[in-house]
Amino acid sequence: MQEFEKKDLIQQALLACKNSYSPYSHFAVGAALLTSDDKVYLGCNIENATFTPTICAERVAIFKALSLKDAEFKAIAIVGGKDGDCTGFCPPCGVCRQVMREFCSDDFLVILGNKNLEYKEYKLSEILPLSFDKQFL
Ligand code: THU
Repeated sequence: MQEFEKKDLIQQALLACKNSYSPYSHFAVGAALLTSDDKVYLGCNIENATFTPTICAERVAIFKALSLKDAEFKAIAIVGGKDGDCTGFCPPCGVCRQVMREFCSDDFLVILGNKNLEYKEYKLSEILPLSFDKQFL
């Protein structure tokens, strides 16, 4: 992926982050998922007063795509921060990494961006080593 494409994906994640429903943690997250045919699905975190139904931005984006039978993914950009101020880099939680494991290849690119469009990038295999997946079943 080219540098400008990564920055564009981060821009889209920043837009998605604005839709975050996070009245309990006040931590807003946005994600932009790129499919292999260059479609982008956006997601934001959506919290709940009973806490456990809360869903992360990454899973919203992934499930939106899957629900439309779009299941080939190249990359995801993630942004997040307290009160939507995306200054730091927000890594995906363990549950989201495991969901990525189910549907994405080892070299699926996870791009952690900030509001200045700076980023760090990782392959899924780097951030979820020794993972359990369908090949064990
Ligand atoms: N959150 C995400 O949306 N993605 C992550 O990978 C990290 C955590 C959300 C869940 C919750 O609404 C808030 O951030 C604080 O944990």
